Amino acid sequence: MNKILKGDCIEQMELIEKKSIDLIYLDPPFFTEKKYTLQNRERTKEFSFDDIWGSNKEYASFLNDRILLMYDCLKETGSIFVHCDKSGEHIIRSILDKVFGEKNFQSEIIWSYKRWSNSKKGLLPAHQNIYFYSKTKNFKFNTIYTAYSETTNIDQILQRRTRDKHNKSIYDIDEKGRAKLGDKKREFR
Ligand SMILES: C[S@@+](CC[C@H](N)C(=O)[O-])C[C@H]1O[C@@H](n2cnc3c(N)ncnc32)[C@H](O)[C@@H]1O
Repeated sequence: MNKILKGDCIEQMELIEKKSIDLIYLDPPFFTEKKYTLQNRERTKEFSFDDIWGSNKEYASFLNDRILLMYDCLKETGSIFVHCDKSGEHIIRSILDKVFGEKNFQSEIIWSYKRWSNSKKGLLPAHQNIYFYSKTKNFKFNTIYTAYSETTNIDQILQRRTRDKHNKSIYDIDEKGRAKLGDKKREFR
């Protein structure tokens, strides 16, 4: 069943059963120290949110309180993905390390985009970060298989590998020197 809870997430999370959530995707204010105002398509409604904190400490405290509750809501097999950018990534990373543990950092997705401008001194921002932490080592991960790209050498992928006497990984060949085939790779579903 899908449900949308509206309001400050710190209050809404109190309504969620502990250890009941599989996956959290968090797209919090980024610590840009700006106020954002958006309008709907018809320009009849205005939405705004404030991303002004005044100090690293204020921002860290806001997120820390909420990420602690998120940790409690996650199942032992659950994970969190946190979206941020260069403004607050160092703060978010240290909170996640503390709450989830450095060992449960799984990986980082780099969300890259292109912008062209010569008006800014220095390098233009061209990516955002999405940190992936699991609650425990025993996290659930549903692998999605896609079709091989046209440039993939499937013959090479299907060749069985073995180890030589120096424990180096090599292609396995039969007595006639022909490549042995390994298990069939999973197909795109
Ligand atoms: C970086 S924006 C994410 C926008 C969103 N992903 C979207 O595509 O519309 C941060 C969002 O967090 C919301 N927000 C800020 N403080 C919040 C809080 N305490 N509880 C819930 N949402 C909050 C803001 O209103 C804003 O929409």
